[in-house]
Amino acid sequence: MKIAVTGKGGVGKTTVSAFIIDALRRKGRRVLAIDSDPSPHLARVLGFEEADEIVPIAEMTDLLQERTQRDGPFYNINPKVDDLPSRFMREKDGVRLMVLGAVEKGGGGCACAENAVLRNLLNLLILSPDEDIVLDMEAGVEHLGRGTIMGVDHLLMVVQPYRGSIETARKIQRLAADIGISQPLAVANGVADEEDIEFIKSELGVEPVVVFPADRQVARAERSSSPVYASSDEMKQVADALVERLEQLGKE
Ligand SMILES: Nc1ncnc2c1ncn2[C@@H]1O[C@H](COP(=O)(O)OP(=O)(O)O)[C@@H](O)[C@H]1O
Ligand SMILES: [Mg+2]
Repeated sequence: MKIAVTGKGGVGKTTVSAFIIDALRRKGRRVLAIDSDPSPHLARVLGFEEADEIVPIAEMTDLLQERTQRDGPFYNINPKVDDLPSRFMREKDGVRLMVLGAVEKGGGGCACAENAVLRNLLNLLILSPDEDIVLDMEAGVEHLGRGTIMGVDHLLMVVQPYRGSIETARKIQRLAADIGISQPLAVANGVADEEDIEFIKSELGVEPVVVFPADRQVARAERSSSPVYASSDEMKQVADALVERLEQLGKE
């Protein structure tokens, strides 16, 4: 299964990603975790010891330059990337991790050439067969090539019971409709009670596939820098239910 996790900053994308990754791993799967958040910290949350030393590929300017063979205003729009995964992947307890960093949007000082490398790399990873992938990303899905997003089986949007989070989720819904992919699945996080769930349902117009509670153990794990996925049995159970649900949906 290939799962992409989106949502507003701070709603718990990285936390939810870590629990999904752990749920897949506990099922004996080999998981590839891809961090494409502009301020990546999936490595830390997953307990990679050298987390602070990992340089996101987006920040390796020499490498990006070399791959795009930039010469004046011209660059190679289809840079070679197939050797990069083996060079830049980290592995721990059956989980492989790649930190892409930000795929910056174009515009004024267009980083188009650099983006071509990251996009090709993401495509290569997402489209590789027989691999479970969890992609922890930023809010939008615009920066994903159409090919990449088509290669994702499930697009999840993490929502918390407050307005800002719902507004971002609505944008993601519209974007998905615009580019013609199936509607993203809502995953509620940081939920305290029934009232919270009702708020999400009524504002978003869809029922969350699962509900992660607001969990003190998660906060504690974050503060003590211990791997978050080991922190809470309740969160683990929700992650298991989520993975099961996604598998069922995949068969339909
Ligand atoms: N269910 C939860 N219960 C308690 N704290 C949470 C929960 N989900 C996330 N957090 C905390 O909220 C903060 C933001 O979560 P994070 O996963 O980094 O969000 P994002 O990746 O969307 O920016 C972190 O400090 C994290 O520990
Ligand atoms: Mg994050």
